[in-house]
Amino acid sequence: MRQRISLLMVAVVLGASVAAPAWAEEDDEAHGGMPGQAVAFSKKLGNCLACHAMPGTKGEMAGSIAPPLIAMKLRWPDRAKLRAQIWDATAANPKSVMPPMGKHKILTDQEIDQVVDFIYTL
Ligand code: HEC
Repeated sequence: MRQRISLLMVAVVLGASVAAPAWAEEDDEAHGGMPGQAVAFSKKLGNCLACHAMPGTKGEMAGSIAPPLIAMKLRWPDRAKLRAQIWDATAANPKSVMPPMGKHKILTDQEIDQVVDFIYTL
């Protein structure tokens, strides 16, 4: 009986850790506080959260019409390509609904570099 209970507890604990993505519980220290995070999260600037979920959000509502910004270094080993996607998403996909942040001067070049620095930590 005792063994049964502990097995059950292990299952519950395992289940809980599978259900919650690691980054949801992770402290913000790793990527929080970077200037690029403020630019990405700000509704007046990048407003990336309108469309993309990403780690580091604290109760902000994140959209789901675009891919979640996770494992960026792994998925975008070429930083220049990642920057280009943010500078002008319509270059890769002319029908993209993602605002061409650089081309339309929504963000300055410096802000785009900061955003890339930030999302490269995700
Ligand atoms: C209005 C919605 C919208 C906003 C705002 C937006 N994006 Fe996107 N983004 C998209 C969509 C949709 C895609 C999918 C590819 C496409 O259609 O261009 C995308 C693709 C991407 C990609 C490549 C997808 C991948 O696999 O990682 C990156 C990187 C990206 N966006 C970063 C950003 C960043 C950083 C911001 C804020 C500065 C931002 N986006 C703001 C809609 C948006």
